[in-house]
Amino acid sequence: MVTTTPTAPVLTLPAAHGGCPFDPPPAYDRAARQGSVTPAELADGTSCWLVTGYQEVRTVLSDPRFSADARHPAFPFLTPGRRALATANPSFIRLDDPEHARLRRMVTKDFLVHRIDAMRPGIQRIVDEAVDRMTARGTSADLVADFALPVPSLVICLLLGVPYEDHEMFQARSRTLLDNRTTPAEAGEAQHALTGYLTDLAAHRRRHPADDMLSRLAARTDLSLAETAATGLLLLVAGHETTANMTALSTLALLRRPAQADRLRADPGLVRGAVEELLRYLTIVQSGLPRVTTEDVELGGTPIGAGEGVIALLSTANRDEELFGAGAELDVTRDARRHLAFGFGVHQCLGQPLARAELQIALETLLRRLPGLRVTVPEDELVFRGDSVVYGLDALPVAW
Ligand code: HEM
Repeated sequence: MVTTTPTAPVLTLPAAHGGCPFDPPPAYDRAARQGSVTPAELADGTSCWLVTGYQEVRTVLSDPRFSADARHPAFPFLTPGRRALATANPSFIRLDDPEHARLRRMVTKDFLVHRIDAMRPGIQRIVDEAVDRMTARGTSADLVADFALPVPSLVICLLLGVPYEDHEMFQARSRTLLDNRTTPAEAGEAQHALTGYLTDLAAHRRRHPADDMLSRLAARTDLSLAETAATGLLLLVAGHETTANMTALSTLALLRRPAQADRLRADPGLVRGAVEELLRYLTIVQSGLPRVTTEDVELGGTPIGAGEGVIALLSTANRDEELFGAGAELDVTRDARRHLAFGFGVHQCLGQPLARAELQIALETLLRRLPGLRVTVPEDELVFRGDSVVYGLDALPVAW
């Protein structure tokens, strides 16, 4: 008698969350156990490859045969909303070199470590003022709305030269752009509104320059107004949503593990390392980085043809047991510096020195100034953002 082994159904991306809210979706873990490169499909039925292994993810992100250009006809879009945005005025995160390098070079100086270090006193002031506002109002707050979101929003507004009073408009539209449930029409509307806003602002700064990034970009003769707006949009969106969600999730993760929070309180020198470990453990860009092959390649022993979509999963790579030991645990004393939470290769996060400074200052200050900080709702009432490019929390009710 012939028996057939049932083949596992192909995984549809992005996978749903489930189980521990700090862990990657369970389906990603299962895929990682099958192999470092597994077949998968996108929500629209297109086949692609899911890459889960640490070395293979690094190869995808650093080998130029894997393109980040979303105008490629076979580019793998994780949602229909993002497909709608692909060709309209792309920013450098979705371009390859040399176009990518030309545009990225125009803003790299602003994010150099020594430039960001010079901003630390200003960031500390913004963080302290947020804590002052919370404590002046009483003994409870929503840590997302009152702290985690305003702090990086204020910082990126200062750096870019975007008026903070417009924060409700740009925060809401950024969330729409990052939400996996956004329809193509909603995505188009959000991008159109933000692009229009930044184009007007850049045109204004061209006539009335100030000491900020948008003014410097608008003054350049080798950059169009459309390119300035696309770069401004990328920095504005990436500059606040990511750090906001990392701050809220990191706080929750530490409050759940009082012994680890106590270690940080006792030795603030551990905060730098703890931030790397939290970046690794939480890997908030959980749904993976999309690329398309420009020629035939072999990845982890799997042949992949030219013009195939590849999704590089940072979350499983960051739990590689050989590199990080018990990677599913949070250990603020672990050496996590080789994590891939900021990506790898030419597109590696430009804002990482800023994100690190903000997270280090925010977490150290919260632990020091609010030693009695605690979550005030049961765990099952917390709403996690499982349907977003950037994983996080909608709200975090706390008291102190
Ligand atoms: C915890 C916070 C953050 C995380 C986890 C994060 C994560 C990432 C990741 C994974 C990428 C790579 C995308 C890819 O290869 O397709 C990236 C790129 C980028 N990030 Fe961040 N990011 C954070 C904060 C920031 C901040 C604060 C800024 C800016 C102010 C920023 C600006 C950018 C830019 C401009 C790129 C595109 C770089 C390029 O294409 O050359 N990010 N980020």
